[in-house]
Amino acid sequence: MARILSAIQPSGTLTIGNYLGALKNFVKLQDEHECLFFIVDQHAITVPQDRLELRKKIKELTALYLACGLDPEKATIFVQSEVPGHTQLAWMLTCNTSMGELERMTQFKDKSQKQAAKGQGIGVGLFMYPVLMAADILLYDVDFVPVGDDQKQHLELTRDLAERFNNRFGETFKIPEPLIAKTGARIMSLQEPTKKMSKSDDNPRNFILMTDEPNVIRKKIKSAVTDSDGIIAFDRENKPGLSNLLEIYSVITGESIDSIVARYEGCGYGQFKSDLAEVVVAELEPIQNRMKELLNSPIIDEVLDRGAEQANKLAFKKVKKVEHKMGLGRKK
Ligand code: TYM
Repeated sequence: MARILSAIQPSGTLTIGNYLGALKNFVKLQDEHECLFFIVDQHAITVPQDRLELRKKIKELTALYLACGLDPEKATIFVQSEVPGHTQLAWMLTCNTSMGELERMTQFKDKSQKQAAKGQGIGVGLFMYPVLMAADILLYDVDFVPVGDDQKQHLELTRDLAERFNNRFGETFKIPEPLIAKTGARIMSLQEPTKKMSKSDDNPRNFILMTDEPNVIRKKIKSAVTDSDGIIAFDRENKPGLSNLLEIYSVITGESIDSIVARYEGCGYGQFKSDLAEVVVAELEPIQNRMKELLNSPIIDEVLDRGAEQANKLAFKKVKKVEHKMGLGRKK
């Protein structure tokens, strides 16, 4: 049985990009593999957060995990900051990482530019972010990490750090493989379909949130940018808007893009968009209802307490092993 791990930041509300690129796949994987899925609150604080809001978002994301079908009987679900091994290992990995490796990270370049544009200094936490992510993964000897396309570079760094450590200190870490789906790994913005859909986008018409009301979803899809040639076809380069909508339809329903294109041959974009809106609403509405019920129940704390206990057991062993390899502390 392979071990699978992934995580999501509790900053902002998730978009259908996060859902289709990551969370929906987590649910499929839990039936056949040993899974760890967590909430990376320590990653969220690499940019400024309101403390009460962050706390609320941690619970909301847990409720969303469960509402989407993650089952605490099958997967270990926990909060990163409740497992100190993550930051402990991150420090040991930091001491084996070069500045140049982190300066090359495209997400760091994007995010630091945004911070600078707001007149805010660039936090060291933002710079160190990929090392903490590497620690998240290497702590648990995982085989696969299901993520969206934007995390590919971070996964490559994780593999490099693991290999380097193993060469320097002897076999310590398993080398993880990214698991990036063929469709859905890069859901694009609705108004600017050449850029990624992101929860931190300033224009709410660019994304669909997991918590958007049905009528908001319908409006956003109706006004999504397409093109003027009126032909339903998948062509990411020349028809990025329509191709993105086809991809969303395909990942939600499981129908292949070719089959959707064939079914809509000769139809206008209007019909396709209104059908897509109903597909999205039908997927999200039950999740939203379950999420509301869960938020008011004690289940969330029970799940997270149990998850932290399980994760801590695994993490503690690995931290001790790495400390021993690096000569930290006293030999007992
Ligand atoms: P985060 O919180 O930004 O995003 C969570 C997951 O959603 C995917 N994603 C998308 N997929 C498709 N289309 C999009 N438009 C889209 N936007 C986001 C992301 O690729 C991700 O899989 N660094 C990570 C969190 C993390 C992590 C980890 C992941 C921390 N430690 C260890 C895996 C393993 C992040 O910021 O994801």
